[in-house]
Amino acid sequence: MQLSQSIQAADIHFNESGTPISNQFDDIYYSREDGLTESYYVFQQGNQLQTRWLAFEQEQFVIAETGFGTGLNFLAVCQSFHEFRQQNPEHTLKRLHFISFEKFPLTQAALAESLSQWSTVKPWAVQLLANYPSLIQGVHRLQIDTAISLDLWFGDVLDSTPQINDRGIGVVDAWFLDGFAPSKNPDMWSDELFYQIARLTKQSGSFATFTAAGFVRRGLMQQGFNAYKLPGFGRKREMVAGVMQQKPNLALNRSQLLFPTPAAHTNRQPDEKQVAIIGGGISAISSAYALAQRGYQVSIYTQSHLADAASGNHQGAVYPLVQLQHNPLSELHIKAFEFSQRHYSHMQTTLDFGFATCGVLQLAFNADRQRRLQQLVDEQNWPETLVHAVSTEQANDIAGININSPAWYYPNGAWLNPVSYIKALAEQLVAKQQLVLHENTQVTTLQQENNHWQLTLNNGHTVDANIVILACGHAIQDFEQAQGVEVHPVRGQVTELASHSELAKLKSVICHKGYLTPAFSQKHCAGASFIKDNDSIAVSQQEDEANLAQQSQFLAQSGIEFTPEHIVNQRASIRTCTQDHIPVVGALFDQKTLAASHHDLWKGQKVTLPANTYDNLYCLTGLASRGLSTAPFLAEYLASMINQEVLPVAQNISDALNPNRFVVKKLIRREI
Ligand SMILES: Cc1cc2nc3c(=O)[nH]c(=O)nc-3n(C[C@H](O)[C@H](O)[C@H](O)COP(=O)(O)OP(=O)(O)OC[C@H]3O[C@@H](n4cnc5c(N)ncnc54)[C@H](O)[C@@H]3O)c2cc1C
Ligand SMILES: C[S@@+](CC[C@H](N)C(=O)[O-])C[C@H]1O[C@@H](n2cnc3c(N)ncnc32)[C@H](O)[C@@H]1O
Repeated sequence: MQLSQSIQAADIHFNESGTPISNQFDDIYYSREDGLTESYYVFQQGNQLQTRWLAFEQEQFVIAETGFGTGLNFLAVCQSFHEFRQQNPEHTLKRLHFISFEKFPLTQAALAESLSQWSTVKPWAVQLLANYPSLIQGVHRLQIDTAISLDLWFGDVLDSTPQINDRGIGVVDAWFLDGFAPSKNPDMWSDELFYQIARLTKQSGSFATFTAAGFVRRGLMQQGFNAYKLPGFGRKREMVAGVMQQKPNLALNRSQLLFPTPAAHTNRQPDEKQVAIIGGGISAISSAYALAQRGYQVSIYTQSHLADAASGNHQGAVYPLVQLQHNPLSELHIKAFEFSQRHYSHMQTTLDFGFATCGVLQLAFNADRQRRLQQLVDEQNWPETLVHAVSTEQANDIAGININSPAWYYPNGAWLNPVSYIKALAEQLVAKQQLVLHENTQVTTLQQENNHWQLTLNNGHTVDANIVILACGHAIQDFEQAQGVEVHPVRGQVTELASHSELAKLKSVICHKGYLTPAFSQKHCAGASFIKDNDSIAVSQQEDEANLAQQSQFLAQSGIEFTPEHIVNQRASIRTCTQDHIPVVGALFDQKTLAASHHDLWKGQKVTLPANTYDNLYCLTGLASRGLSTAPFLAEYLASMINQEVLPVAQNISDALNPNRFVVKKLIRREI
């Protein structure tokens, strides 16, 4: 589904008592006197959260809400969940996930003003504001603290809900049906919404709503809920709540059949949550972290040491791949970038590693680029918080050197020293006994045995694992189980330069055809060569010279000397690339079985059979030139999949990431 990227921010004013009022709907967001009490009464008590949490037997409880507004309902439930966790530290229920849909999101400034009134929920309000994403259509995953996460879907709830994978059994335990009164907002309260609510609700999931409108109650009953009236809050006579009695029997849709996202943990005991990750780069450590957060015990196997391959450069730029129009590629890269940038910033509060949100300038260095930059200005497709055009003077100011070119500016762009990040995080996970690290250990083959995987190591030993993730870059192709995944190596060499005179003044990352970073440990990174289908990692003097020549060409006005005497090091490694520029993340599959079961896909008939996947075998690779910007998010996606949670991407993005897409495409084109 093609999305339009721009959404309209909420048009609000505050009345004399400071209550926000929507000009779009001519209705108040909450009552200033008792907004919080009303939220506890209607939504939390209406869904019997306290009782249900105590009896809950899973580790994550999921609430979904129509109409995020000022986030007050969310913050109120954060506070309740925090208290629940404090009172029941050993309880199985450890995490809260909240999904909220908002057609007209508040700007961060308006949100801050609204939330300043509520002191009791301040700790979570601070986190919400710090994590608040750019106002871009689609889903944004925010990690509020270690126990609470939030999926904010910007756009009409009627457009957003169909894009959520219900994982076959539903994903929501309780609904907060907010969203202005049906009389003020009749379009939203529709049969289509009730259908989507039922589709996404787990068996025995519940809802509560402030409205007692008969058609809402009847609409939800038609979808399998029982629904009963309760006394309303304050002066309101009645409200309605209900529980899913008979979940509608829904057939799996085409995406669910063709691009499966199987979970690994269903019915597993906690001591069976063991995962082996093959690889020692940013993909591996990000996966280890995301799974450790979910209670998994992780082992990493890497053939030499951590950060030995593509993730071992001195510095890389962290910024999104943004195209002028909103398409799956931009959608994925933007959401991944914003998540990952927030993630690194947050991790810096407890880990010592090289990372700085210094902004990234992408130079409009020729007439074509300047035309495209002008298009960005004219079409205003992206919010300024993500990217905006800057003049030559502004760019010079931001960069701290004379770059003589207008530019795209990513204010939250950054650089990362992946080596210190990967090592510091691994050390922390090992110290918490969540990770066992096996360096100098190459995995040579994988063998499926009954209900586990057997890994054969280069020392001839074998080890068993319940779940395996291949996060080993282009070496994924060495594994029989990954035949059908199409990645290709692209060699790249970076040249490290000693910080000196004019170069030392550089304040932001500069990207042109290559890139240049501000100093870290008195060194800058100038990169990089790009040589397709070449997997040699021998360093080359010629590529150093080409890197320097490129900097001299694009930064000719800077006065910086890009000469060989400043070179202090160079390093070559391999990017793992895909034809469609999209990473490869998800469950692996048997190519021959898929080709046999879906051989007539080319006929365009309705898909009725599920595509096969191996049990408990996944991959995360194909991160190409942007792995530092995407890995933390992709790992969050993969961990959500493995742990049978709601996914942080729309269904079409999930399909696009699926490792089987290469084979599916060939079957559709009748190429196999
Ligand atoms: C020159 C260059 C410049 C780049 N610049 C940037 C940038 O500025 N910004 C950005 O975001 N990205 C950049 N990238 C891309 C980024 O570095 C990669 O996308 C990212 O590092 C990929 O991480 P990974 O963990 O998937 O793979 P890798 O870091 O390559 O890790 C693969 C791991 O698998 C291990 N392994 C392989 N086979 C086996 C086996 N059989 N058993 C055990 N272990 C195995 C390897 O030893 C290695 O540890 C650049 C890449 C290059 C090459
Ligand atoms: C009463 S407010 C929600 C209050 C909010 N829950 C809070 O805690 O502040 C209703 C919200 O629903 C949003 N909304 C209305 N129609 C919508 C739709 N079709 N899709 C998504 N959001 C919608 C409005 O923009 C508004 O922010």
